[in-house]
Amino acid sequence: MTKKDSQLQLGVLVSGQGSNLQAIINACEKKEIPAEVVVVISDQPDAQALTRAQDHHIPALTVERENFPNREAFEKEILRHLQHYRIDLVCLAGYMRLVGKTLLDPYPDRIMNIHPSLLPAFPGLDAQRQALEAKAKVTGCTVHFVDEQCDHGPIILQTKVEVLKNDTVETLSARILKEEHLLYPKAIGLIAKNMLDKKR
Ligand code: GRF
Repeated sequence: MTKKDSQLQLGVLVSGQGSNLQAIINACEKKEIPAEVVVVISDQPDAQALTRAQDHHIPALTVERENFPNREAFEKEILRHLQHYRIDLVCLAGYMRLVGKTLLDPYPDRIMNIHPSLLPAFPGLDAQRQALEAKAKVTGCTVHFVDEQCDHGPIILQTKVEVLKNDTVETLSARILKEEHLLYPKAIGLIAKNMLDKKR
């Protein structure tokens, strides 16, 4: 069996600091999951995630929405890169855009996202602030398959995080993020093993 057959090829879409990307790269490099990050694509040219990818000699590309007349053309360009790198599974990791049909149709149940709440609670921006304002006792993080709606689609794994009495958005976000870094590689591992079994 070639390396390509025994490892799932991941494409990671990012917009920001990329700490989840880092956790995924680390898990792949330590062989904790049968996967390899083969391309990172950002819609923001100054995303720290791009530097993280370069530090690991992973191709890091920028595709900016403003350079395309509409979402379809923008996503077609992303799709072109994903297909060029023969991506099996797409991971959104702090990617701040909704995904449309142009990407969803070629990757049915093969685009995942992570969100800092126990979905379906608190979708959208500022999930941690939403949890504090709702006086939730427990929140957490979710990895799910992506559909056309925001932070929506079949749930793969979740981790609970207790909300403490004196939590601020910052302290709660930091505790959730720590759990995200464990949860995302774990979820990718589950899907990767399943997809590889089907491939064989
Ligand atoms: C994470 O909290 C993730 O759940 C959300 O955006 C944040 C991205 O953080 N979708 P990072 O860029 O992975 O550090």
